Amino acid sequence: MVITKAIIPAAGLGTRFLPATKAVAKEMLPILDKPAIQYIVEEAVASGIASFTIIFNKNKTALINHFDSAPELDLLLKERGKEKILHGINKIIRNAEFTYVNQPEPLGLGHAILLARNTIGKEYFGILLPDDIIVGSQPGLAQLIAIAQQENASVIAVQEIPIEKASSYGVIAIKKQISPVLYQINGLVEKPTASQAPSNLAIVGRYVLSHKIFTSLDAIMPYTEGELQLTDGIAHMVKNGEKVFAYKIQGHRYDTGNPLGLLKANIGIGLQHPDYGPQLQKLFEKKLIDVIAGDL
Ligand code: UTP
Repeated sequence: MVITKAIIPAAGLGTRFLPATKAVAKEMLPILDKPAIQYIVEEAVASGIASFTIIFNKNKTALINHFDSAPELDLLLKERGKEKILHGINKIIRNAEFTYVNQPEPLGLGHAILLARNTIGKEYFGILLPDDIIVGSQPGLAQLIAIAQQENASVIAVQEIPIEKASSYGVIAIKKQISPVLYQINGLVEKPTASQAPSNLAIVGRYVLSHKIFTSLDAIMPYTEGELQLTDGIAHMVKNGEKVFAYKIQGHRYDTGNPLGLLKANIGIGLQHPDYGPQLQKLFEKKLIDVIAGDL
């Protein structure tokens, strides 16, 4: 099984960042000097993905521009001896293929995935939610791809959560524990209360799925009220006898879907950064308030 395609759903409203996201795509908000979505694409490329389908909407055309060439800017930077600045993004643009699918209304993550059906075909493929940034020694999606290849089945990433936070996540029900980090699942529940949660393993925004997810999403759509959830589609697949595994993803996960989470990601990733890290470290060693006042 070779997995070279991935979907990045980025057509949500981003209400938690309003007013910042009134005119700017949430996925374009920066972590240090790169937009959040670039971290996601870099992780996917490092996992072997060469073909991306980005689900977007008319307020998010900056995403298209970011993953397109900018010859005038390249020339200007070259004249100034600064062409290295865009080296990373230009390498991605040269080596990967980007397809954009419009989701006219935010009818749910499941609906967004269903719209990408024609770009995937009959293969296994990855899904990366741009709100979750995973930093670790192994790229997040690559970990799932290895399990999908080993089990010849779909895999979703999970992490342990305090049970009182279950209502913010999709939570898995375990059929069989295969190893300390691998489970076969027999169901999923979207945002359960603590007492209804079937486990303390919550879904993180990385998936490797069989194309059968499209048939399942299609099947449940007519009976869905409100948003079409991806978790309901996966639960339908399981009910139909498809094997689905959950893997405890290794690495640190930053939830950049809310302002505090984005700030934490900036600090956490900033501390590891070769240029900004040492300065940021110093900032934390001093009394923050004095340092910030000193900058004025
Ligand atoms: P969320 O509901 O967590 O994010 O969707 P949101 O809608 O962007 O932001 P808030 O909650 O209003 O602040 C999870 C992922 O699914 C995508 C989002 O872009 C995000 O990556 N999504 C969600 C879609 O692409 N389409 C949808 O209809 C819903």
